[in-house]
Amino acid sequence: MNQNNPIPELFNDPIDRRGTHSSKWDKMEQLFDVSSDDGLAMWTADSDFATAPCVIQAVRDAADLGVFGYSWDHQEYREAVQWWMKTRHGWEIDTNWILTSQGLGNAIALCLDVWTEPGDGVVIFPPVYHEFSNKIEKTGRKVVECPLKREGDTYVLDLEEAQSRLSGDEKMLFWCSPQNPSGRVWTAPELRAVAEFAHRNGLMLIADEIHHDLVYAGIRFIPMDAAAPAFRDRLITLTAASKTFNIAGQRTGNIIIPDDGLRAAMMHRLNTLDYGPSALGVQMITAAYSPEGAEWVDAQIEHLNGNRQLFDATISEIPGLSSMPLQATYLAWVDFSGTGMTYDEVDTRVRRNARIAASPGPGFGPGGEMHLRFNLATQRARVQDACERLRAAFADLQ
Ligand SMILES: Cc1ncc(COP(=O)(O)O)c(C=O)c1O
Repeated sequence: MNQNNPIPELFNDPIDRRGTHSSKWDKMEQLFDVSSDDGLAMWTADSDFATAPCVIQAVRDAADLGVFGYSWDHQEYREAVQWWMKTRHGWEIDTNWILTSQGLGNAIALCLDVWTEPGDGVVIFPPVYHEFSNKIEKTGRKVVECPLKREGDTYVLDLEEAQSRLSGDEKMLFWCSPQNPSGRVWTAPELRAVAEFAHRNGLMLIADEIHHDLVYAGIRFIPMDAAAPAFRDRLITLTAASKTFNIAGQRTGNIIIPDDGLRAAMMHRLNTLDYGPSALGVQMITAAYSPEGAEWVDAQIEHLNGNRQLFDATISEIPGLSSMPLQATYLAWVDFSGTGMTYDEVDTRVRRNARIAASPGPGFGPGGEMHLRFNLATQRARVQDACERLRAAFADLQ
């Protein structure tokens, strides 16, 4: 990366991640049969940008010291998280509420472990982040699907329908906000309705807010805790800097718990399993959650906004394809049902003809059947290339 570049230019630095043990680029041939020699990696949710210069400087400072021993006293880290939540999201939190996990996939599994038993039902609202159902199944719990309703070009909640799907054996609800894969940002009344639904049904409410920072102009993200503080006695909020700053490999996430009893239960589990935060992850995030980091994130959102406009304009020109207008995230949710093709036909054209590895919609559950999710967090030239490939792969429809 050229550190002398003005910030907006950093997002167009042509970084080649192939051969760097990047799961997004180096695992795609194995998973999608799309070689990184001529293919484009647009699946898993990490970006192709070098992280913010202030974060890179923190890693350089650590390397200059050269000692990577046990770390202690993460109060500065917790204060940085507190500052970020207040300045970026208007959310006041106590530093004592913040526990750390090895990323949020890990935090999701820990929540299941602490507050549910094998056989318990866990409510999700598909199409949604596939690891919710994977982890529920792998831990021997039961997935209870309460699908979102498609209304025009967005998703809405149908809590009456959701209520009818519950059997009374449910113990937990996973809520994704902003929503992956649709990029939907929920309103305060919607958030309160979900919290009331959890309360009515005696469910622990796990709000996964990992995508909260990459929100487009004119849209306001509201944390669940800020929207529904009356329900803190059942609320766990999961946050991380990993998507925002492209540092997912550091495996550091936050489990934010205002309720003393719930926090003690999670802390006990973390202590038993001997989980401590990654020292380097903590240093990187402390540097990230700063005015310099905030400036870099604002520039990233500008860049992503240009990418989504370019991508959506192309998709809208291909008959039968539609891209859900994104309110947040760099994940474009594309519906191919208007093509009249089968999913396999669409998948073959995208992988074999366009040579693009995109996330398969069916993996996100009901509602994802005829969709693919394209990760747009890359250099503008790569998005342009993807647009041309998709145009060519579906040329017969135009
Ligand atoms: C909604 C959501 N939660 C959690 C994760 C995983 O987070 P981590 O990389 O911290 O395990 C992702 C990654 O894509 C995600 O989209």
